Amino acid sequence: MTNDEFRTYGHALIDWIADYHAGIAARPVRATTEPGAIKGQLPTEPPSDAEPFSAVMRDLDAVLQPGLTHWQHPRFFGYFPSNDAPASILGDMLAAGLGQLGLNWQSSPALTELEEVSCEWVRQMVGLSPAWSGVIQDTASTATLLALLCARERATNFSLGRGGLQAEPKPLTVYVSSQSHSSVEKAALLAGFGRDNLRVVPVDESFAMRPDALESLVREDVAAGKVPCAVVATTGTTASTALDPVKAVCAVASRYNLWVHVDAAMAGSAMILPECRWMWDGVEGADSLVLNPHKWLGAVFDCSLYYVRDPQHLIRVMSTSPSYLRTAADGKAPNYRDWGIALGRRFRALKLWCLIRGEGVSGLQTRLRRDMGYARRFADEVAQTPNWKVVAPAPLQTVCVRHEPPGLEGDTLDAHTRAWCERVNASGLAYLTPAVLGGRWMVRVSIAGLTTQWDDVATTWGAMRRAAEAAI
Ligand SMILES: Cc1ncc(COP(=O)(O)O)c(C=O)c1O
Repeated sequence: MTNDEFRTYGHALIDWIADYHAGIAARPVRATTEPGAIKGQLPTEPPSDAEPFSAVMRDLDAVLQPGLTHWQHPRFFGYFPSNDAPASILGDMLAAGLGQLGLNWQSSPALTELEEVSCEWVRQMVGLSPAWSGVIQDTASTATLLALLCARERATNFSLGRGGLQAEPKPLTVYVSSQSHSSVEKAALLAGFGRDNLRVVPVDESFAMRPDALESLVREDVAAGKVPCAVVATTGTTASTALDPVKAVCAVASRYNLWVHVDAAMAGSAMILPECRWMWDGVEGADSLVLNPHKWLGAVFDCSLYYVRDPQHLIRVMSTSPSYLRTAADGKAPNYRDWGIALGRRFRALKLWCLIRGEGVSGLQTRLRRDMGYARRFADEVAQTPNWKVVAPAPLQTVCVRHEPPGLEGDTLDAHTRAWCERVNASGLAYLTPAVLGGRWMVRVSIAGLTTQWDDVATTWGAMRRAAEAAI
């Protein structure tokens, strides 16, 4: 493709994306294809000769389009949002256009320094003290793995320089709650702790970790000759946005020298609202935390911020210094390859920087407050409707509901819940995700789309009631 063709198709593609966004509300939210249908329409072998980009764009409309579940749809209420703010899309395109690769500061000073600035901006926006240093990771899953690797190395005085975990005389234990995201368990297993040393701390009636239960488990482990190593507290759990009591967890952790990692992947964005900061009260006592601007805030996926109190510890765990990567600037500026797993890094800061500049802190705050307002109003309406129940506190923007008609309980109630949710999703009008909470299925309504208006919530609520009646 020549530069002139790039310009022509680039303009056409931007138009296509803008039209896609403008017309998205008229589309069914969930993809309408069956497994294998997209693949079946594509050639099984690559083209031997160059094709014009117009042919790709034709396939975009005819073949790929039906296979999209529209995450940017105003009635997408599933999972957590993956908001795609227009300014951030431009930042991501710029990153691709510039083709920078951060290996060390010298390989792209602008990439490194914009990442420093963006992490610092977000630190201020969420009200963390200057004691924190941030770095951009791809996902919260990676950030939590880093946290547990750092915890492991602190507890073993850098066993990686000796025989590693395999040579440790006593097993190390990690504490999570029954509501922790699956990435936490995965990180603990990948970091080598082993399932036998993963403790699941019970939760209270709000689905928050019980610090008294944490302490009991830690004591049991100490008595059994194990070494308590780390605890992961969640601010905004995936099922119901429950809030683990970070301050009390940190208090237990400090008595037993546990590393505290706070998983605020979703709720971290809400900390740009001063009135929400009570939700992670005590966070200054943690060792590391993760928050995902690629969820609610609106940075294009993937953009996850990992903050640590002691960057030197992270660097010591992660650094390698092969001769071909050393430069005269080493020691004068961060080499972010030593702040994570991957050597090369994309210019991810651009999409975050463009988002913050494009919306302004006040614009972001207004949108998040709007979503929380919709969630409160929706929760009130559900709570006032006969046979409907809000089954968990809704401190943020996710409301967990269940339709409980008389005579339905246990597995039959579960089947009913899943059936009406599937009816709504299959209709294409809205998209919701069911999940198990406290042993029973419920439906999460996660209200945080960039273009979602109250009407979208109200229309979906109507569809939910009709689907639930029809499913009895
Ligand atoms: C609380 C929590 N932690 C971690 C994750 C994983 O995020 P990521 O996809 O960035 O790894 C999620 C995803 O929804 C989450 O809700």
